[in-house]
Amino acid sequence: MAKGAPLPERDSQRPVLDVRDLKTFFPTDAGTVRAVNGVSFVVREGETLAIVGESGSGKSVTGLTIMRLLGRTGAEIAGGEIWLTRGDGQRVDLARQPEAAMERLRGSEIAMIFQDPMSSLNPVFPVGDQIAEPLRLHKGLSRRAARAAAIELLELVGISDPAQRVDTFPHQLSGGMRQRIMIAIALACEPRLLIADEPTTALDVTVQAQIIALLRELQTRRRMAMIFVTHDLHLVGDVADRVAVMYASQVVEEGPVADVLSRPAHPYTRALLSCIPRQQHGQPRRRMTPIPGTMPSALATPHGCRFHPRCAFAEDRCAAALPSLESIAPQRTARCIRWREIWS
Ligand SMILES: Nc1ncnc2c1ncn2[C@@H]1O[C@H](COP(=O)(O)OP(=O)(O)O)[C@@H](O)[C@H]1O
Ligand SMILES: [Mg+2]
Repeated sequence: MAKGAPLPERDSQRPVLDVRDLKTFFPTDAGTVRAVNGVSFVVREGETLAIVGESGSGKSVTGLTIMRLLGRTGAEIAGGEIWLTRGDGQRVDLARQPEAAMERLRGSEIAMIFQDPMSSLNPVFPVGDQIAEPLRLHKGLSRRAARAAAIELLELVGISDPAQRVDTFPHQLSGGMRQRIMIAIALACEPRLLIADEPTTALDVTVQAQIIALLRELQTRRRMAMIFVTHDLHLVGDVADRVAVMYASQVVEEGPVADVLSRPAHPYTRALLSCIPRQQHGQPRRRMTPIPGTMPSALATPHGCRFHPRCAFAEDRCAAALPSLESIAPQRTARCIRWREIWS
């Protein structure tokens, strides 16, 4: 199916993941770090949602909360719900599943890949064993069947000579190859939702494009739901159907990718877009202009709109109260009291 082609209505309506008012806090000696503070979004079957925002905006903590991989960080889910529709049609709130239930869901229904594959791959086992492990665990495949499936998966993620490569160790592979291995592990049990957290940030531009094309193709072919986390608005148009823009632990704008990129409704999205140097025909590439100021610390968020100290559109009333995430059109939301002026 071509990128962006509409899905049959029945499927496109069905949310695989429905996150509601999620709050993830870290109690620290300096105070409570509100890393995720009231985040809501939906991801439907066969759809990719990009979550984009500057470093520290709460993107990774959102992903880790959904996976319930916060374990040793000391974070707690302080509020909200994370509804996953399982393959059997049952809905479960991931925020309230015991660890034993999460262990069954991770890998089989939801999977995550990270920026640095080396930190997730085990250096002492051949990659084939690591791809085979979830198949043995969740699908009960025999050693032999799991190895055969691992070879098929290596082929699926575009690794040549899969029958040989199955016995190699992570350090024998390039960064791009390792990320392909991580994708193979994540997809082994055909999860309904894949969370890809900056999966190409550590790779050079050519390999980055290959990995994104691979993820997009696999996502479409398997009709998976995908959350693609990135700080790079460049990438969003190539990979996602919809985009949620995060700033200081909240979603500030959400909508279909083409709409948001061509007509942003929030000043932050607008500022992010103007940071992207656009090549004019026959002219040298423009320098990137960063957004003035820095994102507030999650310990001391400004009163009112969190973006107002950096916002070119800020007025006195922006400091008075936190704007709500308002519906501004079908499928579009924005958290700005001046969205009408900015959007027009
Ligand atoms: N283990 C932790 N302890 C305390 N604060 C944390 C921890 N992990 C992340 N944070 C804080 O949570 C906020 C969001 O972090 P993160 O989700 O990693 O941002 P992003 O992925 O958008 O760059 C940041 O302010 C970060 O400092
Ligand atoms: Mg991150």
